[in-house]
Amino acid sequence: MSLKNTDNRNLVDAYVKKHLINEDAGLENAYTNSIKQGLPMIAVSASQGKFASLLTTIGSAKNVLEIGTLGGYSTIWFAKAMKGRGKVTSIEAAPHHREVAINNLQAAGVQVPDEVDVLLGAGLDVLPKLADEIARGVREPFDFIFIDADWPNQWNYFDFAVKVSKGNGAVIYIDNVVQEMLSSGIVGENERDEEAIDVVAKAGADDRVDAVVMQTVGSKSHDGFLLAVVK
Ligand SMILES: C[S@@+](CC[C@H](N)C(=O)[O-])C[C@H]1O[C@@H](n2cnc3c(N)ncnc32)[C@H](O)[C@@H]1O
Repeated sequence: MSLKNTDNRNLVDAYVKKHLINEDAGLENAYTNSIKQGLPMIAVSASQGKFASLLTTIGSAKNVLEIGTLGGYSTIWFAKAMKGRGKVTSIEAAPHHREVAINNLQAAGVQVPDEVDVLLGAGLDVLPKLADEIARGVREPFDFIFIDADWPNQWNYFDFAVKVSKGNGAVIYIDNVVQEMLSSGIVGENERDEEAIDVVAKAGADDRVDAVVMQTVGSKSHDGFLLAVVK
């Protein structure tokens, strides 16, 4: 019997999840409760959440910044990895999403706001405040920044991420760059959306960072992320 590619990648994701992911009741609840509360099913997959959280462990991150909380699924992954080592700050523009996220975080045993603070507001309103607090020395800079909010602002968030980072060695992760590239016709057959900003080309021309894009497949289809290290 031959299997279609979609079947294969779902099977592999399910097998990896069974053996390696250790998704606990708090994470499962975050996923199911978010759907129950009417949030869209656009959280990272279990493998992606664990992968991003492992990156914070590899880098011994103390301060993680997330832009785009949704129901807190990825946030809980970061909180688990950061337990006892540091803090997660997450920015969410939608009040209902923030409320659901806080409930999900608390149900997962995460202390809000001590371990995870969920700031309400548009990324481009909140980020200048964080930059100001860091400049005044009342907030520590971030060593890992996860960008997972509205696509048109990916580059604006990236630019701010460099500014609110600790500098050399800080990591910036932009999710969904491959889907954005393809849907806006930056590469591939779609008509080019002239408004769409090419974050890959911009990161490549940015002397502040060294970056790469990794394409991914899995239960979330074909996509990929941009990973940058601040020089
Ligand atoms: C893809 S979801 C985040 C998924 C989440 N990181 C996860 O994997 O569990 C994007 C979120 O960004 C939020 N968002 C959209 N525009 C935003 C903005 N301008 N500032 C902050 N958050 C925004 C949306 O309300 C949504 O909750």
